[in-house]
Amino acid sequence: MKTTSINCQTHPVLQVDDWVGFGAYINSFQSDQVVVLTDTHVFESCFDAWSEKAAYTPAAVIEISPGEAHKTLSTCDHVWKEMHRLRLTRNSMLLCLGGGVVTDLGGFCASVFKRGIRCIHVPTSLLAQVDAAVGGKTGVDQDWLKNMIGTFHKPESVLIDTEFLKTLPDRHWANGFAEVIKHALIADANMWSMIQSQPLTTYYTATSRALIAHAASIKCVVIDQDPTEKGLRKILNFGHTFGHAVESVLLENGYDILHGEAIVAGMQMEALLSIKLAGLDFRQYHELTLWLRQQYGLLAIPTELIPEIVAKMTHDKKNIGSKISFSLLKQIGQADYDYLVDDPELLSDIVRAYLKDL
Ligand SMILES: NC(=O)c1ccc[n+]([C@@H]2O[C@H](COP(=O)([O-])OP(=O)(O)OC[C@H]3O[C@@H](n4cnc5c(N)ncnc54)[C@H](O)[C@@H]3O)[C@@H](O)[C@H]2O)c1
Repeated sequence: MKTTSINCQTHPVLQVDDWVGFGAYINSFQSDQVVVLTDTHVFESCFDAWSEKAAYTPAAVIEISPGEAHKTLSTCDHVWKEMHRLRLTRNSMLLCLGGGVVTDLGGFCASVFKRGIRCIHVPTSLLAQVDAAVGGKTGVDQDWLKNMIGTFHKPESVLIDTEFLKTLPDRHWANGFAEVIKHALIADANMWSMIQSQPLTTYYTATSRALIAHAASIKCVVIDQDPTEKGLRKILNFGHTFGHAVESVLLENGYDILHGEAIVAGMQMEALLSIKLAGLDFRQYHELTLWLRQQYGLLAIPTELIPEIVAKMTHDKKNIGSKISFSLLKQIGQADYDYLVDDPELLSDIVRAYLKDL
């Protein structure tokens, strides 16, 4: 297998140039069985072509239904029963082929099955390639609360092949690009300048291998310094405190919303909070908000759901006591963490301000 390594000490992250030789690569782990976990969309769009390119047939394939609604313990129960039926042992390997739902859920299933088996992630969505599959955070949702149940479980490797993205629908490009933008905003002002110099649609189908590798490498630099989120890793949550709450409440109320779409709204809300709490310059706030609005539009959040959104934030995993903890921007390209807020009215005002014209 021909690969190019993305510098990551936590676990190998490899961009795949050629799958020929994958059989020998996977055999080098000396596992007694390799089973693929995927979802039905990815199975239809990617599995056959990948299996042919890699000249590899796994012992079995476990399929789950696609989408966030299925990132639940009940799907895990199905996966664990299948793993049991297939007689996976502690020496088996789960290969998670799919988007962030498959890598989050698969990583979690692997981490606790028989007290933990190994896994490899082969991310097929942009979001999973630049973010979800990297770093070993696993999880599932509980009662629409995002990632409430989860573990840290490092994959043996993450194998990124941008060829998978050829079948990714446009809406999922934009969705995944939200995490590319987040990485630029928290850590790389030059990358942000480059990104916002073109319309978002130019990146559909054409996000370069180099940009994907760079976005993934920003995550690696952060997780290498703080693998279990005791400190610095929290900056990766910029946009996610509001974003997760918006995503959970809209999903719970039957709206069709994707993770990245909620994060785009969450980043605008947290940029506004950054002016108040972290000293972000108003002009930088305006620049980033204007571009995100022009490219993604405004997320139509019904005002009657604002109290639910603020209440959801009180369950956020980063909270300290009754205080809601945010990761905010000091300036574009530099983030900091542990900004504590204990003022529900302020948080409601931020959502209302997001819903107004700039
Ligand atoms: N663990 C982490 O650090 C981390 C970080 C960010 C996000 N996440 C999680 O990632 C999840 C979102 O990931 P996602 O956006 O990849 O969602 P997803 O896994 O639901 O994939 C999006 C959709 O695209 C389809 N798809 C994936 N690859 C495809 C391809 N190549 N061709 C055609 N269709 C394809 C999937 O079947 C699905 O319908 C969320 O649950 C989020 O919480 C985790």
